[in-house]
Amino acid sequence: MDSGLKGRGGAGFSTGLKWSFVPKDIKPCYLCCNADESEPGTFSNRYVLEKNPHLLIEGILICCYAMGIETAYIYIRGEFTLGKKMLDAAIKEAYEKGYLGKDIRGTGLNVDIYSHPGAGAYICGEETGLIESLEGKRGQPRNKPPFPAVAGVFGKPTVVQNVETLCNLPFIVGNGVEWYTQMGPTPNTGTKLYCISGDVNEPGVYELELGLTCSELIEVAGGLRGEEVKAVIPGGSSAPILTHYELDTRLDFTALTLAKSMLGSGGIIVMNETRNIVDCLLNIMKFYAHESCGQCTPCRWGTPWVRDIVQRIADGNGQKKSVANNIANVDTMTWNTICVFGIAVSWPAVSYMRKFRPEFEAALREGKLVTLPVAEATVPPE
Ligand code: NAI
Ligand code: SF4
Repeated sequence: MDSGLKGRGGAGFSTGLKWSFVPKDIKPCYLCCNADESEPGTFSNRYVLEKNPHLLIEGILICCYAMGIETAYIYIRGEFTLGKKMLDAAIKEAYEKGYLGKDIRGTGLNVDIYSHPGAGAYICGEETGLIESLEGKRGQPRNKPPFPAVAGVFGKPTVVQNVETLCNLPFIVGNGVEWYTQMGPTPNTGTKLYCISGDVNEPGVYELELGLTCSELIEVAGGLRGEEVKAVIPGGSSAPILTHYELDTRLDFTALTLAKSMLGSGGIIVMNETRNIVDCLLNIMKFYAHESCGQCTPCRWGTPWVRDIVQRIADGNGQKKSVANNIANVDTMTWNTICVFGIAVSWPAVSYMRKFRPEFEAALREGKLVTLPVAEATVPPE
């Protein structure tokens, strides 16, 4: 808890607090590592699994030791063929060297790790959808509460953590809390694996202290490819978009929340002046419409509805009130669904349509996609 470590999968929930919710008198408890990384623009888990799976195993062992857990599952995205191969080889090696299994190196600690591939559904990255899928059922999210910390895998208390979160543990334990908390602006301690893609010269995964601004991060990634930044998606496609007016925003949990966006999974997508925001939203909405699990009516009906309206605007068949109607539609999906998928659809959609309204209106007016110059495409902040 003292390290201030926040979950790196998206929500930024305090890891120590989550662990404190696990009842001490119910056994067995499980650890479930979420490696079903599917958020568009996010590829840091894949990088770790392919390059350094032993780090994850070490993090899992620390968590298991701290929480008295003997069984850990790693739910890995099905498409991560190389990552799974590297992970399985590392697990095998760890068993052979006595770092996993019974009475680990004579300490009395017992830990088994099982890797379990997903089958390509985005929603299995939602922690309760993941648990359902792991149990062999259809991967549909559960109502919360109860949270997995109390009733998770097979109805038992379960700690669910992202790959990156667990990979912080060996460094915190090895170097101490003081060392860790010196990094990042309080309370956003530590580093983040930022995934930077889009219009930058050197896209990739960068481990940096939390708290750099958007502009600084673009420079770290080799600078902008293009003349001007038009927009930045700061935390995977579920995050509300930032405009060129917001490039001084710090990319950490607190600053992005204050900017009415979120750090999410740390997937930063940079767009230059050639990008069309209507087209970009259409692309994202096609993805979400395909990935809704279909359990809740607002999401099952609303997501394809939003996609279709944006498609009509892009095709030049939109109606005058399309943007206003669409904002009203997606608002009904916010906080009215079983899981946060409904919000992941509505928040970005509303932010694109509000902040880049002139580009949507130009498409409605001209009957085709119109890419406006950056200054004209963006609504200035109030
Ligand atoms: P959440 O805020 O509901 O929960 C965060 C974590 O804290 C969960 O593990 C939850 O079980 C735990 N928690 C919260 N309140 C609790 C309580 N009262 N008692 C016990 N435990 C509690 O957020 P959620 O749905 O887990 O994550 C959503 C985020 O995931 C989004 O912000 C999005 O950015 C991100 N995401 C990441 C993806 C990726 O590929 N990494 C894919 C899609 C979304
Ligand atoms: Fe499924 Fe969407 Fe409901 Fe989540 S919000 S449970 S994805 S229908």
